[in-house]
Amino acid sequence: MPATFEAGSAVLKEISRQLPGIGVHSLLDLGSGPGTMAWAAIEIFPELEALTLIERDAGLISIGRRMGTGTPIESSLWRQMDISRSPELPESDLVVASYSIGELDEKARKSVYMSMLGAARIIGVIIEPGTGRGFGMIKEARSFFIEKGAWIIAPCPHKLECPMTDGDWCHFSARVERSSIHRRLKSGTMGYEDEKYSYLAFAKEPAVKAASRILRHPGIHPGFIDFTLCTENGIEKKTITKSNPLWKTARKAKWGDGW
Ligand SMILES: C[S@@+](CC[C@H](N)C(=O)[O-])C[C@H]1O[C@@H](n2cnc3c(N)ncnc32)[C@H](O)[C@@H]1O
Repeated sequence: MPATFEAGSAVLKEISRQLPGIGVHSLLDLGSGPGTMAWAAIEIFPELEALTLIERDAGLISIGRRMGTGTPIESSLWRQMDISRSPELPESDLVVASYSIGELDEKARKSVYMSMLGAARIIGVIIEPGTGRGFGMIKEARSFFIEKGAWIIAPCPHKLECPMTDGDWCHFSARVERSSIHRRLKSGTMGYEDEKYSYLAFAKEPAVKAASRILRHPGIHPGFIDFTLCTENGIEKKTITKSNPLWKTARKAKWGDGW
């Protein structure tokens, strides 16, 4: 599986943590590649029964079909189409565009955002590389969905202006185990790599949001933990000491979690 699988898994896990029991029965994946997000989604939402995967590359569809043989992906509806010219997309509980909008020009991206808004019954998710450019796309999508009245549920704890200033970007990290072939191809010695990603999840109806989001690895010290949080008041530092009733929660909290 490509490293994007781990990023997709981490995002969907966070959504299911934030909205336990939402019940995702259908998935529409825009720019599915070989079906990476479908693999992540069936793990996190085992109730999934209808999967529509849209991809322009016939070769990737064929690989995806082969990989999915004998799994729930086998019954997916694969459509070879341009995601920016598909006004009529099947409504689905969850609509995702993972690492695909970055391959489109601005006009095509706007058309995809519009399609996502129309097709998402419950939630829409966009994931891009955790780079300045990737985050730029996420910020653009965020403005679009807020203007259209959608409810931003993650990672942003609010719909006010994004407090990330130039030269910094909101991103998270997912650990990817490296096989020996993987290590050789990348001339790497480590048994893992960290996939950095940025993302946005919106809901069609008001839904539970975290009060704030942990933006960096927490700083763990003897007797206290430092957090950098995105909050309604901007980016804030918070220290939790051992005597705080939240100490146990703080010890388990990770970069990317809601706080
Ligand atoms: C980087 S890959 C990501 C694949 C997969 N979503 C993932 O997360 O691993 C981007 C995919 O989007 C597809 N794509 C890009 N532009 C597209 C378009 N206009 N219509 C359909 N598919 C498109 C590409 O063919 C490619 O498979």
